[in-house]
Parts: sequence; structure tokens; C-alpha cells
Amino acid sequence: MTIECEKITTPYSANLNRPILNNISCQIEPGEFVTLLGLNGAGKSTLLRSIVGLVPLEKGVIKVNGIVQNQQQKHRPEMAMLFQGGGLIRQLTAIENVLCGRLGSLSAWQTLWGFPKRDRRLALELLDRLGLKEHAYQKTAYLSGGQQQRVAIARALIQNPKILLADEPTTGLDILAAKQVMETLAQLHSEQGITIVVVLHDLALAAAYAQRAIVLEAGRIIYDGKCHNLPEVMQAG
Ligand SMILES: Nc1ncnc2c1ncn2[C@@H]1O[C@H](COP(=O)(O)OP(=O)(O)O)[C@@H](O)[C@H]1O
Ligand SMILES: [Mg+2]
Repeated sequence: MTIECEKITTPYSANLNRPILNNISCQIEPGEFVTLLGLNGAGKSTLLRSIVGLVPLEKGVIKVNGIVQNQQQKHRPEMAMLFQGGGLIRQLTAIENVLCGRLGSLSAWQTLWGFPKRDRRLALELLDRLGLKEHAYQKTAYLSGGQQQRVAIARALIQNPKILLADEPTTGLDILAAKQVMETLAQLHSEQGITIVVVLHDLALAAAYAQRAIVLEAGRIIYDGKCHNLPEVMQAG
């Protein structure tokens, strides 16, 4: 499942005096582990959101698995997105949050009497795999930042995606929790071959886990390549 961005440009933004994304071209192959880097405001979140079809484009196309992404297509089970901040419902338990990841694929009829048993079992298995079994029935508000981020990953995984897009999943976490989240992503990548595209701020984490870095600056790609010389790239940028 390849992601192809061909010369994508978002509409002109009067605030910025330019488009948020400016002629971006890149191709991400199945099974790659890519990090997206760049200063605040560079356009990283906008690029992820456009890959899932949430952003109108002025020019260019995005194809996923050869199919052009557009805003009319609603459900894309092959891609899952972890939004910045996790986006969990704090009053719900961990397992309920994970089950919310199934809402898009079930009919109202199917959830009328609660989620199917099969889904509850799957949610529990995912939480177990992410080291959260004993927290499954706790409200997510009471979990640590790192645990919450892993609940968000479990919610994304319940739809069995081929591609996981993660927007700053380690921001605000201490280094240990950040490493746990990255280990989780690395495991999904190596064991299940899931394509990972992750926005990071920490160059050391990026170099330790990702094979490839795409660096954005003011809506353009200024670097696309291996991670080993990132410090120089970032300084030059
Ligand atoms: N919906 C929007 N309307 C107008 N401006 C936006 C919108 N979304 C983002 N921006 C602006 O676009 C720029 C890039 O945003 P973003 O993609 O969130 O950057 P990053 O994730 O790299 O910090 C920022 O200056 C932001 O204020
Ligand atoms: Mg962002």
C-alpha cells in the first residue's frame, strides 16, 4: 500500500502569505518507517491530514494504493491516524476508547446492545499486547501520558490498518514513556509490517527508530533521506 503525494499544494493562506503546503512530492512505500520533522507551523500535521483526505487541495493529487484520496471518501480502514494529543475521551475507560475505533465500521444496529463480544475480546487483546491489560477498565483520565498514548495506538489498531500515521505521539512524555511509545511503533512495523509515518520533535528518537526522515520547512520538503546526518540538515534549515 504505497502513499504517493504528487506536487500537492493547499489553497493560499492569507495569514501565512503562502499555501500551508507548497508543492510537496514524496512517495512512501509499504512497510517503511518514516519520520516527519520540522519546526512548529512547518505543515507536518497538515500533510498527515491531507494523506487521510481531510484537507482540500488546490493542486496535485494524493494516491493511496493507487486510489486518489478525496474528501468524499469517508471510510478508509486501511489507514489509521493518531491525532496530536491522542484524542481520547477522558471519561471513558481504556477499553471503551479502543472500541470507539470500531465505530466507523459497525452499523448503529450492531452497537445497539453494546459492542459485539468479538470486538471486546479484540480490544482487550490489543491492550494486553501494549502492556495495558490491568488498566483496561480504568478511565483514561487517570492514566499516565504514555499509557494514554498507547490506548490511542490500540484504538487505531483495532481497525487493522496497513498504514499508521501518528502526529507527535511522544510530545509531552518523559523520555522513558516516549521510548515505550516508539518501541510499540517499532514492533508494529517489524512484526506486522505496518507502514509508520510519525511526526517527532526529538532528533535522537527519530534517528533511533526511523529509516527515513522527511523534513518540512514553511510548507516545502527541504530534506528527504536517511536519518544519520539529521543534525546537520536541521542546522542548515
Ligand atoms: N485549517 C487551517 N486554516 C488556516 N491555517 C491553518 C489551518 N491549519 C493549519 N494552519 C496553519 O498552517 C501552518 C502549518 O500548520 P501545521 O500543519 O499544524 O504545522 P505543524 O504540524 O508542522 O506544526 C500553521 O501556521 C498553522 O497556523
Ligand atoms: Mg502539528
